[in-house]
Amino acid sequence: MSCTNTATNTGTSAGISKQPFGQADAKNVDLYTLTNKNGVQVKISTYGGVVTSWVTPDKNGKASSIVLGFDSLSGYLAKPPYFGALIGRYGNRIANGKFKIGDSSYTLATNNGRNSLHGGNKGFDKVVWTAGAVTDSIPSLELSYLSKDGEEGYPGNLSVKVVYTLTNDNELEITYDATTDKATPVNLTNHSYFNLTGDHANTILDHQLQIDADYYTPVDSDSTLIPTGELKAVKGTPFDFTTAHRIGERIDSVPGGYDHNFVINRKGDGLQQIAVLTDTLSGRKLEVYTTEPGVQFYSGNFLDGSFKDSNGKPFNKHTGLCLETQHFPNSPNEPKFPSTILQPGAKYHTVTKYKISW
Ligand code: BGC
Repeated sequence: MSCTNTATNTGTSAGISKQPFGQADAKNVDLYTLTNKNGVQVKISTYGGVVTSWVTPDKNGKASSIVLGFDSLSGYLAKPPYFGALIGRYGNRIANGKFKIGDSSYTLATNNGRNSLHGGNKGFDKVVWTAGAVTDSIPSLELSYLSKDGEEGYPGNLSVKVVYTLTNDNELEITYDATTDKATPVNLTNHSYFNLTGDHANTILDHQLQIDADYYTPVDSDSTLIPTGELKAVKGTPFDFTTAHRIGERIDSVPGGYDHNFVINRKGDGLQQIAVLTDTLSGRKLEVYTTEPGVQFYSGNFLDGSFKDSNGKPFNKHTGLCLETQHFPNSPNEPKFPSTILQPGAKYHTVTKYKISW
């Protein structure tokens, strides 16, 4: 897609390489390029752990990026709505930015009306991560970040490690690990906006989506998007993606568009295929696998053309969609939802894999 790094795989050998990408917070930022033996190429910035571009061939062999992004750091410093970024400490919303653990009450930075969204004012998407081990044979990049006790209001020093691996089966695997020294909510995810056509002149409304979820978490009102706490059956509603549907088919009957957490039909704790996205124009298919119990399907409703790629082409409404694997929104205030509280001594570990074919 012209919005992103248009570098194609031509002449690039498999492995991992690094180039300077600018500076943020007085720290150097690097851009890593992971290339597999099929020429799929993923670029990841140490700023926000952002996937800036993800180039794959289409059915005609034409290479383009399947995610929205910018080809320079300045695009990200202008605070686009989480393009490609790692999200933490808590992906999605916490109502009123408040929660209790035991007898202790905590107040978070609120940055989404009265709620806290995606970690607060300066979430993990806006910090410079430290690149650690890189592996060349199957290109892999380890990023780490220490989120200090009290950062954005969260308790405990949280040590986070994320590993991106690009396999020769054209999967981008993301593993998330964390430990803490005080009990804290943790909900890590990646916020890539997919557009399988490889060109954000097109919307995603003609993509077909299937989600393995019989229930979703309805929200209080369309402006605050906090779950009511209820699990509602998708059957007979525009939220029924148990079989593939065109995204545009029923979107007009969802006020504001899709921006909801789906409750995965979990079959044990392992990595499980939970969603399939296809686009006939490009012939591309994206399969999503995760260990998480939920996925936020966000149809890019708030993209309004105010952010533009380096050629001046705007990112308009519905030109990208997110499938954010996660625990449910506002879990710290919903005792019936799967817990997101990480205790000292325990290990947070989740895995999500996006597999692309064409
Ligand atoms: C949220 C949306 C939000 C978007 C960008 C998504 O994860 O669910 O409501 O607008 O992120 O901020």
